Amino acid sequence: MSERPYVIDQMISAKSIAARIESLAREISAEFKGTDKLVVVGLLRGSFVFIADLVRELDLPVEVDFLEASSYGDSMESSREVRILKDLRGKIEDRDVLVVEDIVDTGHTLAHVTRFLQTRKPARLRTIALLDKPSRREVDFKADWIGFSIPDEFVVGYGIDFAQRNRNLPYIGKVRFTEAK
Ligand code: IMP
Ligand code: MG
Repeated sequence: MSERPYVIDQMISAKSIAARIESLAREISAEFKGTDKLVVVGLLRGSFVFIADLVRELDLPVEVDFLEASSYGDSMESSREVRILKDLRGKIEDRDVLVVEDIVDTGHTLAHVTRFLQTRKPARLRTIALLDKPSRREVDFKADWIGFSIPDEFVVGYGIDFAQRNRNLPYIGKVRFTEAK
């Protein structure tokens, strides 16, 4: 838990998120049209709200699985070394796979996770992230679908945390510290 006091300023409303997901879901349903072997893989824990809303808008038969990669811990700094903490329950060989992430920041997490999943020979592997901070990129990674491109701000809500808090906010907000460090 952070000791430094902060407030959260709304950046993207729940309504804007819902509208964007509807349109992303239409594109994804078109891309995977006709498949009966799609596995939607959520990266824990930040994607749990996004994946729940996204799969309910998909006009496709889907299976859902989860993967957990090491993350920030309780700090605001990205770790460059990514480890798989919890593997998928199901097989993805010859399956269509859509990896769902909350934010692409430095790019290390999704770059690592997609390399890891590719070794299992999926038929197709696509990625979607709700948020993208392109100015923070350290490795060349581009998700196939992005909800919103945002500036370099630390954000919370809609599944995304700061030191495990604020995941339950229905909107995306940015953290603003109210006292100097
Ligand atoms: P990357 O490996 O640097 O791309 O980091 C991606 C992960 O860092 C995301 O899955 C988030 O869990 C976390 N992250 C990046 N930016 C933020 C943020 O603004 N708020 C909370 N978590 C973040
Ligand atoms: Mg994460």
